[in-house]
Amino acid sequence: MADKLRVGIVGAGRWSRTAHLPGFDRSPLAELVAICDVDRELAEERQREFAIPDLYTDAAEMLARDDLDVIDVCTRGDHQDLVFATLEAGKHCLVEKPVCHDYRDVWRAHELARSKGLKTKVGLTFRYAPAVMYMFELIREGFVGDPYVFNGYEQNSQWLDPDNPMDKRIHKTRPVGEAEWGTDYSREGIVVSSLEGYGAPTIDIGLECIGADLTSVVGTLANMVPMRRKTNLDDERVRLNVDDADMFMAEASNGALFSMQSSYVTVGNYPGIEARIFGSKGAIQVRLVEEFGTIQTIKTATADAVEFVEREIPQRYFAPGAQPDDHWSTAFYGNLVHNFLGEIVEGGETNQGDFAQSARVQEIINAVTLAHRERRWIDLPLPRDLEMPAAQTMPW
Ligand SMILES: NC(=O)c1ccc[n+]([C@@H]2O[C@H](COP(=O)([O-])OP(=O)(O)OC[C@H]3O[C@@H](n4cnc5c(N)ncnc54)[C@H](O)[C@@H]3O)[C@@H](O)[C@H]2O)c1
Repeated sequence: MADKLRVGIVGAGRWSRTAHLPGFDRSPLAELVAICDVDRELAEERQREFAIPDLYTDAAEMLARDDLDVIDVCTRGDHQDLVFATLEAGKHCLVEKPVCHDYRDVWRAHELARSKGLKTKVGLTFRYAPAVMYMFELIREGFVGDPYVFNGYEQNSQWLDPDNPMDKRIHKTRPVGEAEWGTDYSREGIVVSSLEGYGAPTIDIGLECIGADLTSVVGTLANMVPMRRKTNLDDERVRLNVDDADMFMAEASNGALFSMQSSYVTVGNYPGIEARIFGSKGAIQVRLVEEFGTIQTIKTATADAVEFVEREIPQRYFAPGAQPDDHWSTAFYGNLVHNFLGEIVEGGETNQGDFAQSARVQEIINAVTLAHRERRWIDLPLPRDLEMPAAQTMPW
């Protein structure tokens, strides 16, 4: 395989601009060849900004090219169809989370990729924060000892203001033909949102920290801000039953305890992540919250020196081209993109944060949703033939 991988990206929106495209632009392993967005004007803007040779408004046309190695799906909408089309077209696939809403579909995508010798990567962004990469290495070296307790938090104030539209897409015209969402006001009818969209990357970090699978979960989803604007085209607030705050606890196969809280109506800045692991020998706390110019900190303590001390993050955890004043999205995604391209170029089995890992995370999200609906502990793994009530999800 050539040293540089030829990349096509679907989605020219906000996250594509600040996270994905700078990552490909800076990586010596990438050649950005094509960009696709149904919004031609937006695609043209990004094409100019990142000097991308080819432009498409139909993903199928881009996927039909046989000179692309990697497709990056960075759309806001259902990712599943584009993911399967990418794999069917024989391209390595990076996609934003969730890959699919049902964990069984994520496994199917994983198996399809494996059968074709393709690598996959999911936008589990925060495992690539230099502070988290450092935390994982300390854990691998035995700094924590036997893992006892993991606490994860993903919280920020993004939707504290009821006039911030719940639908984050920027609509020029009203969406047509989409299923209603948020209008079932029953407890069971709550739309799974914060848990899936915001909890996923920290659940992923927690699984790495404890080094085991979860065996049982119980949790609840809540709607703290019931009345809000639905889309950018609406002036009035309406009642929307959407999970904007949730909490769950779990037991792991190695006896560790696991807790997680995610919300986007809690005061605090982006990305709003805290991950804490406590073990028999030591403890590590990572904080990824942008405050006064700092985007990440890591603190550690040991059994005989219990006061937490901040550590300097070694330079080796930063991606090629990283700048001291990088926005967190650019800083963390630079690592994600470069890591993925490196895994493809090197060949072999290594493929961290892939669809299999995402399926493990999605299964937990599905199980917590079930625990909420049925108000009980749910054992994992879920039976593969489980009848899951159709998940209420937003159409993006
Ligand atoms: N991992 C993270 O930390 C993180 C952070 C922010 C956003 N995201 C995810 O990134 C994705 C994109 O978010 P965004 O804020 O850039 O959204 P956005 O609305 O700004 O941009 C998405 C773009 O995708 C285009 N699009 C949608 N469907 C398409 C299709 N079938 N073909 C071609 N183009 C299509 C839209 O026209 C739009 O321009 C979302 O899935 C979001 O959840 C992840």
